Amino acid sequence: MKSKILVTGGLGFIGSHTVVALQEQGFDVVIIDNLSNSSLDVLAGIMKITQISPEFENIDLRDKEAVVNFFEKYPKIIGVIHFAASKAVGESVENPLLYYENNLTSLIYLLKELSQKDEANFIFSSSCTVYGQADTLPISENAPVKKAESPYGNTKQIGEEIIQDSCKVYPQISAISLRYFNPIGAHPSGEIGELPIGTPQNLVPFITQTAIGKREQLSVFGNDYPTIDGTCVRDYIHVMDLARAHVIALKSLLEDKLEKNYDVFNLGTGKGNSVLEVIESFERVSGKKLSYKIVDRREGDITAAYADTHKANSELNWKAEHSLDEALKSAWEWEKRVAQIEKEE
Ligand code: UD1
Repeated sequence: MKSKILVTGGLGFIGSHTVVALQEQGFDVVIIDNLSNSSLDVLAGIMKITQISPEFENIDLRDKEAVVNFFEKYPKIIGVIHFAASKAVGESVENPLLYYENNLTSLIYLLKELSQKDEANFIFSSSCTVYGQADTLPISENAPVKKAESPYGNTKQIGEEIIQDSCKVYPQISAISLRYFNPIGAHPSGEIGELPIGTPQNLVPFITQTAIGKREQLSVFGNDYPTIDGTCVRDYIHVMDLARAHVIALKSLLEDKLEKNYDVFNLGTGKGNSVLEVIESFERVSGKKLSYKIVDRREGDITAAYADTHKANSELNWKAEHSLDEALKSAWEWEKRVAQIEKEE
């Protein structure tokens, strides 16, 4: 039996693109997903792109017995990429216990199973949200982790600590936390992409849904920040670059290339763009004029965040390759594809 890689949340936005990248690199993948924020159509999309059908288990990782049974059924798992988690900041403020339960019990149950193995490699979906508003830009991995602004952000901070503490006592577990900046875009095939449920909270899906006519107008949250044009600055990274980074990080663990058995890496482009620059880029690549208005600041938003990417560049030998224009073009192609599918249904 070939060794396998488990991808939890493998039908989600970043998870599905990572499954494709893993399969293209010859990995045997099994997906766990409870379909709470995804659909089985994504599985069909993955198969269409790679011509390979990943194994799939509909499991809720809060169900301890199901997790134990899963690892008995798949004894050959040597690597886990853990995406499965709730990710809406506002919802986490309203329902903190759901977030702590969902994001942390699942992590603990997975690590408990891995702690019983002779060798295990673990990659955790973390976020640049752990830095809050950093004192210096670009943000390096040495920047202090600030008090979390939301229960969601706190689950990422606590999650990282749980993994770090576990790696100390279980040296057979090697782990990496990947701190993503702002993931956007879609697979160039148009088969998979981001599928927000309800009104999108993030900028790019809101832009594409406005351009396609699903939303009337984009609200730009504040233009009185101390930035080049007054709007917030973020580091937008193409999901294809992000997916590739996961495969590289996993390989580094499998090949014992890293010095420590626990480490953290930023994943960003290293470049900051304002909200107005994103709108301008979107209008350029889509040929559509976007309806938007400036409104008040959104509570909890930071002024600017972009990554210092030196560590991932030098130690993982990974670098973002896609531009903002390319990422927005792919997001737009995906939105048009979704509209076409919805019309056919
Ligand atoms: C948000 C989360 C962050 C999470 C990340 C995941 C908040 C405060 N932060 O980051 O914790 O890790 O998503 O992807 O929710 N914007 C508008 N109009 C909109 C939507 C957004 O102007 O309708 C602006 C925001 O003010 C911000 C930028 O666009 O300046 C990006 O926003 P968003 O996509 O929500 O990402 P973050 O806030 O950076």
